[in-house]
Amino acid sequence: LTKDLYPDVKRGDFTKLTSGHLQIFERLLGKERVLTDKDDLASYNMDWLKMVCGYSEVVLKPKTTEEVSEIMKICFKEHLAVCPQGGNTGLVGGSVPVFDEVIVSLSLMNKIHNIDETTGMVTCDAGCVLERLDNEAAKKGLMMPLDLGAKGTCQIGGNIATCAGGLRLIRYGSMAANLLGLEVVLANGEVLSMMNHMKKDNTGYHLKQLFIGSEGTLGIITGAVVQCPPRPKSVTLAFLGLQSYEDVLKTYRLAKSLLSETLSSCEMMDSRSMESVERIGLACPINKNKFYMVIETHGSNSSHDEEKMSNFVAEAMDDGAVVDGTYSSQPSTMHNLWQLRERITESLTRFNYIYKYDISLPLEHFYEAVIATRKHLEEKGFKDIQISGFGHIGDGNLHLNVEDKAFSRELLGAIEPWLFEWTTERGGSISAEHGMGFKKRKFIGLGKSPSVVGVMAGLKKQFDPTGILNPYKVI
Ligand code: FAD
Ligand code: MLT
Ligand code: ZN
Repeated sequence: LTKDLYPDVKRGDFTKLTSGHLQIFERLLGKERVLTDKDDLASYNMDWLKMVCGYSEVVLKPKTTEEVSEIMKICFKEHLAVCPQGGNTGLVGGSVPVFDEVIVSLSLMNKIHNIDETTGMVTCDAGCVLERLDNEAAKKGLMMPLDLGAKGTCQIGGNIATCAGGLRLIRYGSMAANLLGLEVVLANGEVLSMMNHMKKDNTGYHLKQLFIGSEGTLGIITGAVVQCPPRPKSVTLAFLGLQSYEDVLKTYRLAKSLLSETLSSCEMMDSRSMESVERIGLACPINKNKFYMVIETHGSNSSHDEEKMSNFVAEAMDDGAVVDGTYSSQPSTMHNLWQLRERITESLTRFNYIYKYDISLPLEHFYEAVIATRKHLEEKGFKDIQISGFGHIGDGNLHLNVEDKAFSRELLGAIEPWLFEWTTERGGSISAEHGMGFKKRKFIGLGKSPSVVGVMAGLKKQFDPTGILNPYKVI
């Protein structure tokens, strides 16, 4: 838990919550939206990985932007620290309090205001769950541009706050590319309404971009306008087995060249990741291999797309890069194949303590990170440590997971900052898509120069002068 893991962090000089504060919050929201019962609070205080845990005494559940604004005015005046929380699926400890911060949960801010089937713009509250948005968008022939394993729980506000990437960034682009409008409440309660619906809007600075990936440290996101692409009329999926990382790269190149405009996802996983999902009962449909790839296409003409996929798989096998594989355009089969990739995270945490890393690397160093980490840990005397590597190969984003029976400060010290340094030395990023949160904050200087971090600190001061918004996170 936090205090054990991070003994160096000290509580800031924030006001402690009193019964007087609770009465003010209850007058604003009503008793039922001010949670104080210890059992009710437990899940809000603990992160998804069960590695960071605070002891907040209150969760506030606003339903409107005005209520969020009033909450922030009170917290600003009283100097109460605040932790904004979406679906609490974040993987870097950013979504839970470190100490006793007031938790502002966006989960009741869940109205979908409009889905425009002509322009593809979805206007909604920040607390809408991603999967629900996608299901509603589907009714109008649209899809959300991002998709991730946590879609059933994560919220669009959390996706924006973390600049979530996910499984189809290769095709549809990042959150930053698809977000047209945003509404944010600042630390002092001021509402910044930037709910733009125009594709083009160069009126001054693109302020909304600052909040994408700000992880709750610059403001509370309350509303969004997301540009959604048409839902594909035809989808195909291949699940392939390969014997080496070089073959993975070869196959990725071939997929880009042969599937070109239809390629919508290109993911890889190693044998350890496969073993992990098999341990939770999922069955691998092909023979055992060192690497696996999930390659998906989105198109509009099923016979054309299936033919393309079939040619691609045939050529990859003729070439010898792919040694085994299957492909399908049946929704239930594709769903089962996707599960093998999407449920790795869950399966890893089921049996072991996981040291989780989310790094970007030039592709020539991508899987080398797993091999180098294994060698480094062996040299440090850690024998038989399992390391799994999987991720978004098409985006150069590796998820490296070191597994052990229980947390060990020595093992953590052997991995960090070594792995971050190894990554930056090769031109990579120490946080590709999960953010810095609480767990990575002290390493920001490895990823960014002092001048850049200085400008970030200045922006933080500008938006949140007294530092009440998600303290101890990001910088
Ligand atoms: P939370 O976890 O609640 O919060 C995350 C951060 O955003 C915190 O710092 C919080 O303070 C802040 N925040 C949340 N809501 C708001 C708001 N309205 N205003 C301001 N700040 C806010 N991430 C990826 O990028 N790609 C993946 O493929 C991916 N897959 C995942 C798979 C699994 C199984 C899990 C558990 C997580 C995965 N994640 C992935 C990580 C995670 O970043 C995403 O799940 C998601 O974007 C977080 O959304 P959330 O609503 O749960 O936010
Ligand atoms: C994923 O791509 O599955 C995620 O980002 C989650 C993880 O890294 O475990
Ligand atoms: Zn990911």
